[in-house]
Amino acid sequence: LCRHFSSSAVRNVVIKNVTIIGGGQMGAGIAQVAAATGHSVTLVDTSDDILKTAVKGIEGSLKRVVKKKFADKPEAGEEFIQKILQNVSTSTDSGSAAQRSDLVLEAIVENLKIKQDIFHQLDKVAPEHTIFASNTSSLPITDIASTTSRLDRFGGLHFFNPVPMMKLVEVVATSATSKETFDSLLNFSKVLGKTPVSCKDTPGFIVNRLLVPYLVEAVRLHERGHGSKEDVDIAMKLGAGHPMGPFELADYVGLDTIKFIIDGWSAKDPSNPLFAPIEMLNKLVAEGKLGKKTGEGFYKYK
Ligand code: CAA
Ligand code: NAD
Repeated sequence: LCRHFSSSAVRNVVIKNVTIIGGGQMGAGIAQVAAATGHSVTLVDTSDDILKTAVKGIEGSLKRVVKKKFADKPEAGEEFIQKILQNVSTSTDSGSAAQRSDLVLEAIVENLKIKQDIFHQLDKVAPEHTIFASNTSSLPITDIASTTSRLDRFGGLHFFNPVPMMKLVEVVATSATSKETFDSLLNFSKVLGKTPVSCKDTPGFIVNRLLVPYLVEAVRLHERGHGSKEDVDIAMKLGAGHPMGPFELADYVGLDTIKFIIDGWSAKDPSNPLFAPIEMLNKLVAEGKLGKKTGEGFYKYK
């Protein structure tokens, strides 16, 4: 029926089939929420082992949800989990996954070149109507999109960790994102049960532009000897009502991600003292102590 429409006539895309590139803490969380809201999800990563771990993680997270939601009905809970898991398939071939998708959402390492390369490849094989989006924490969506020829169908879709619990999605429009694309992404966020906010394509959007300088300021305060990690964390939880203190939260987000964010901003704006290097953070990352995901960061988790 739509055969005679040119691509410029593509209207708001209703997103049903979703490819998520990257099955780490964010990609797996987004896959879980998309699958739980009836989307058909293909989760892509570089190896079957990583994908197995990702699906185990989704199952574990769903078990936590079920434990509360189906406290008296364990069988219904198990059925609920299996139904959601049926909506998730895995693949190491992003190209063939993208061919069947209305949305390709990328959640891989915070590295511009790697993100650009992936989208450049997928742009050649994804259908005309497919929307591309990145979950980047800090990189300009405009730069990531620049290696594709679908600038009007490219936006930011920034989720928060842990995805099943955090209600916010930042929906980012570049100067080239079409209204149809933006509306489709807003609507998709709502269908996932999240609350979207509209963001410009500026460094860190809203949340990270405020949160990341705060996190590294806490590390600097500690480096100056003005407070122990434990006291800073207790202070911000009990004095400012935060659910986690800054050291706990930095470990939770991933110290590599925080370092990538600060280094990237510093390269663009070297004179801004908020973005100056932080010795303690750099040392932990160099030692592979990336936070909760590696078992050690500012704190030990083993
Ligand atoms: N999956 C499913 N359920 C989960 C879950 C997960 N990953 N994490 C927590 N829950 C649910 C479970 O029901 C859990 O109960 P159980 O432990 O019995 O399973 C319940 O929440 C309570 O969890 P916790 O006891 O662990 O502790 P909590 O009440 O403090 O809640 C938290 C955990 C929601 C993570 C809360 O500590 C919090 O909001 N922390 C701050 C998180 C935050 O700021 N995130 C944003 C980071 S910045 C970012 O993401 C952007 C970026 O680009 C870097
Ligand atoms: P992570 O390290 O947990 O996961 C990244 C995953 O991507 C890994 O499983 C890795 O194997 C995979 N990957 C790497 N290169 C790939 C490729 N070429 N093809 C397919 N898969 C590949 O990282 P994360 O914390 O999930 O972060 C992912 C993205 O989300 C980053 O851009 C980050 O800035 C952003 N983000 C992170 C948080 C957070 O709190 N950690 C929050 C919001 C956004």
